[in-house]
Amino acid sequence: MSFAKSLKCRECGRIYEKKPIYVCEYCFGPLEVVYDYKKIKKVLTKERIIARKENLWRYKELLPVDHEPTVGLNSGFTPLFEAKNLSKKLNCKKIFIKDDSVNHPTLSFKDRVVAVALSKAKEFGFKTVACASTGNLANSVSSHSKSAGFNCYVFIPADLEKSKIISSLIYGVNLVAIEGNYDDVNRLCGEIASKYKWAFVNINLRPYYAEGSKTYGFEIIEQLGWRAPQNIIIPAASGSLLTKVYKGIKEFEQIGLIKKSNTKFHIAQASGCSPIVTAFKKKSEIIKPIKPNTIAKSLAIGNPADGFYAIDIIRKTNGYGEVATNDEIVEGIKLLAETEGIFTETAGGVVVAVCKKLVEQRKIKRNEEIVISITGNGLKTQEAVEGKTSKLIKIKPNIQSFEKIL
Ligand SMILES: Cc1ncc(COP(=O)(O)O)c(C=O)c1O
Ligand SMILES: [Zn+2]
Repeated sequence: MSFAKSLKCRECGRIYEKKPIYVCEYCFGPLEVVYDYKKIKKVLTKERIIARKENLWRYKELLPVDHEPTVGLNSGFTPLFEAKNLSKKLNCKKIFIKDDSVNHPTLSFKDRVVAVALSKAKEFGFKTVACASTGNLANSVSSHSKSAGFNCYVFIPADLEKSKIISSLIYGVNLVAIEGNYDDVNRLCGEIASKYKWAFVNINLRPYYAEGSKTYGFEIIEQLGWRAPQNIIIPAASGSLLTKVYKGIKEFEQIGLIKKSNTKFHIAQASGCSPIVTAFKKKSEIIKPIKPNTIAKSLAIGNPADGFYAIDIIRKTNGYGEVATNDEIVEGIKLLAETEGIFTETAGGVVVAVCKKLVEQRKIKRNEEIVISITGNGLKTQEAVEGKTSKLIKIKPNIQSFEKIL
């Protein structure tokens, strides 16, 4: 059933067979999956998609599996809804929330990429899966590795939030905390990946893994009634989610599921880790790696693999980039909770804060529709808001005590 033809170098265009490889042998450019869109156009109709189960595999022709998918069969198809209270508060006409804070099974958009990566790992015949993670990927690989029957090694920076650590350990995987930041973890994992024949989802399986992020965009289009939004704000660590949502929209245009669209892509980063936004604002092609220092640990990648491609998309779609300080991230988390009743993690706080800024700066017009990407759950980053919420009211177990505080 495969519609994925091969891998292709994003820089020099060389074609490779579908194997667990990720860089071009000639120019070291990243490899990407290419599809037979003519063939897909003939079979993937709206009617066929709508008739399928509400999970990310309803778009399977545009995902890089050669057989029926085996992992993540309940992931995806999260809610998209109009955030009326938030829109009113920010004095905007229409904000939509695409809410992956309730994704299955580990409450972040990473369940999408892991569903695809581990389905592919099965096809390749791997027995052990692994990843380098800023936290959410660790949770998702840990969980899916158990349900899919893999051995599992997960590598994280040692200073992650307690809940992200426990939410990996609970699955009984090998969780390795490295004294260093994510970029140190990633470097070491590159070395381990070349020595051990494991499926590192975001290293040697990265071309396949990254395709899973397209489904976040496919769902937005379907849930908006088969059209792309005017604006979308996406949080970036490596920049992969942003580039793949863009690729997904272009694919839907190419196979005729939607008309040609002109969505503006805006990127959100934390001010303590903003290599992509900084380069964008400087109008530079070069992304200068930095040492992250932010409470948005899920976005703390100082040397983003897809940064260059993300900037290209922001520029060509007339989007913008902004950053959020630690205080603004907390304010963003609280604003979303108090208006829409959604408790998002720090990455979501970054997105809400950046949305507010871009609207105030008139970079997004108040009368234009905006989709904000809520990609993770606040229960995993509680320390970010500890002591910064309203105070707990403690009383004695009698009515007088209660009435005193009323
Ligand atoms: C909640 C959340 N949102 C967004 C991102 C950004 O992902 P990307 O590396 O694709 O830019 C991450 C990455 O870990 C994340 O955990
Ligand atoms: Zn190349």
